[in-house]
Amino acid sequence: MTWTIKKMGFTYSEKVMDHFANPRNVGEIENADGIGEVGNSKCGDIMKMYLKIDGDTITDVKFKTFGCGAAIATSSMATELIKGKSIDNALNLTNKAVMEALDGLPPVKVHCSVLAEEAIKSALSDYYRKQGIDPEPMVGKIED
Ligand code: FES
Repeated sequence: MTWTIKKMGFTYSEKVMDHFANPRNVGEIENADGIGEVGNSKCGDIMKMYLKIDGDTITDVKFKTFGCGAAIATSSMATELIKGKSIDNALNLTNKAVMEALDGLPPVKVHCSVLAEEAIKSALSDYYRKQGIDPEPMVGKIED
């Protein structure tokens, strides 16, 4: 694990800083098949995720995050990890996997990666609802 960059008293990996400085898949998708928005009431950060789905494949994903650098980096990495993959793959994406892909996060920033996992699940819930399917059996309970 590379812990190189110190910022605001936290030490971040190069990958976190890269995804924060050059976030991938930022924006909105017009006519998205699923839109999810989640927030953390303690820090006030908000993450919005847009999915385009064709059959079983997530063909496009974009995000908008109003939050800390780690929230932006985890959103960016999460979109990269699900783009072009199956719905099942996205449903199984954990915040731990997002953190590992970023070479870790400082302990106080773990909740930012939880937001990324929840945003994807919230967008998939919306997708299922639009299809007339109850999302809870597949996605679980999402506070949105
Ligand atoms: Fe709350 Fe990062 S500090 S999402």
